[in-house]
Amino acid sequence: MELKITSKEFDHFRTLIYDESGISLSQQKQSLLESRLSKRVRELGLETFSQYYDRVIGDPTQEEFTRMLDLISTNKTDFFRESKHFDFLRDVILPESIPEKRIRIWSSACSTGEEPYTIAITLFEGVQNPGEWDFKILASDLSTRVLAKAASGIYDEERFQGMSPDMLSRHFLRGRGDSMGRFKVKPHLASMIRFRRLNLMNDEFPIRNPLDLIFCRNVMIYFDRPTQETLVNKFHRYLKPGGYLFIGHSESLQWVSHPFMSLAPTIYQKER
Ligand SMILES: C[S@@+](CC[C@H](N)C(=O)[O-])C[C@H]1O[C@@H](n2cnc3c(N)ncnc32)[C@H](O)[C@@H]1O
Repeated sequence: MELKITSKEFDHFRTLIYDESGISLSQQKQSLLESRLSKRVRELGLETFSQYYDRVIGDPTQEEFTRMLDLISTNKTDFFRESKHFDFLRDVILPESIPEKRIRIWSSACSTGEEPYTIAITLFEGVQNPGEWDFKILASDLSTRVLAKAASGIYDEERFQGMSPDMLSRHFLRGRGDSMGRFKVKPHLASMIRFRRLNLMNDEFPIRNPLDLIFCRNVMIYFDRPTQETLVNKFHRYLKPGGYLFIGHSESLQWVSHPFMSLAPTIYQKER
């Protein structure tokens, strides 16, 4: 039997998703939600979306909520995605940091980890003696599922298509036997990154020292304007004077009120 979501059920999900994650689903997304969630509802042996809603809100671990979010949002990412940002990090931010030899970066919607590992590679390869530098990257996401994958540091060979074989072997170990066709990140990169579940809707983040750079790419596109505005103003507080914010190439802060200087379409800087 075909599973249908009623308008009332859709409204309940829409409100829950917005309140908990900031993701804003328009009224037109009713059939999308229905098709994305119906398999999961059936898998659990449930008969209606209302029963599934009760299951989601009744789960104190929030695991089912995370699972639902993974079904409706995309975790798509890549190594060196939107590579201009990594060029800017290497060519502008690293040279500016030479006097202190210390960089703090937050990859704030890191998905399965390709973004923070690319940051780590860029930092490691961008300086003469990485051992003399103090690099720390906080990588966070709302989804525990993607974070587990990110923290494992293990990827299938196809994921590295844009990376040269030399770079791959400098930073990843080739799997053997049962792990053939997979690569695992080497400790010199892994030790630069701390993974943590953080919801961008939180009022505060566990970040004590001012940051040099925040990556917030390809997630704000799911948020409405007031949510984007609150978020970028929060980011501003966590950056040091002169710190940078990178957003995704299909995103814009044009209609959002914020205190940043715009250096390029997706690169913003806090005043010095
Ligand atoms: C498309 S991925 C972006 C990955 C990476 N930043 C990139 O640009 O390649 C979007 C990520 O945002 C995460 N996300 C969605 N809502 C979030 C929230 N409220 N707080 C933190 N992460 C969130 C999703 O779980 C997903 O992994």
